Amino acid sequence: VTWLRVLSSRLPARRVRVGSLGPHDARRLSDIHGSAFARPWGTDEFEAFLTERNIVAQGLFLGRAREPDGFVVSRRVLDEAEILSVALARTARGRGYSRILLAHHLDSLAEIGVAHVHLEVEEGNGPAIALYRGHGFVESGRRPDYYLRPNGTRAAALSMTRHLAPAIRAWQPDAALP
Ligand SMILES: CC(C)(COP(=O)(O)OP(=O)(O)OC[C@H]1O[C@@H](n2cnc3c(N)ncnc32)[C@H](O)[C@@H]1OP(=O)(O)O)[C@@H](O)C(=O)NCCC(=O)NCCS
Repeated sequence: VTWLRVLSSRLPARRVRVGSLGPHDARRLSDIHGSAFARPWGTDEFEAFLTERNIVAQGLFLGRAREPDGFVVSRRVLDEAEILSVALARTARGRGYSRILLAHHLDSLAEIGVAHVHLEVEEGNGPAIALYRGHGFVESGRRPDYYLRPNGTRAAALSMTRHLAPAIRAWQPDAALP
């Protein structure tokens, strides 16, 4: 059974869904965050984020999972947004799922009028930097010694930015009727 579990965790899920998240997902998001970062955000922090009006949060759901296997959280201010955190559960990493999650997220931000997206990432975080570069983010700055690693050393943060083209809507409520 264990062997089957390991094997199935390495196969691509048949169905991948990106959906919005609510306060009831806070505990799961805190667990995923804790598996990824040295300073985990607690359930309370996620609950607060997920009830904030300017937060756009989406989850990645693999197969029939009811709980997300990954998440992305952004805060929007006027036509700008900052990606606050992106993480996948360990079992979902290394298979390119974050590309699907981020692509949906950027589409959603464009749909609500966001034109510029910013983020910060640890300089040595290869998979994250590759993910962002692959989605058109370019480096806009570097902050030395910004992050504190679990072993006490410090790492620089790269600031990255991406411009979003306005979303093209198939149906426009304001369009004049013939
Ligand atoms: C960052 C994260 C979301 C990426 O998700 P993922 O779907 O597992 O990403 P993958 O491992 O499939 O790799 C993404 C890309 O990085 C590349 N990559 C993987 N390891 C790499 C490394 N060590 N150095 C450089 N590139 C690397 C992959 O080839 C892939 O590139 P491609 O899209 O051109 O094929 C995931 O690793 C994660 O949750 N990490 C912990 C949390 C984190 O660091 N979040 C970002 C904080 S800003």
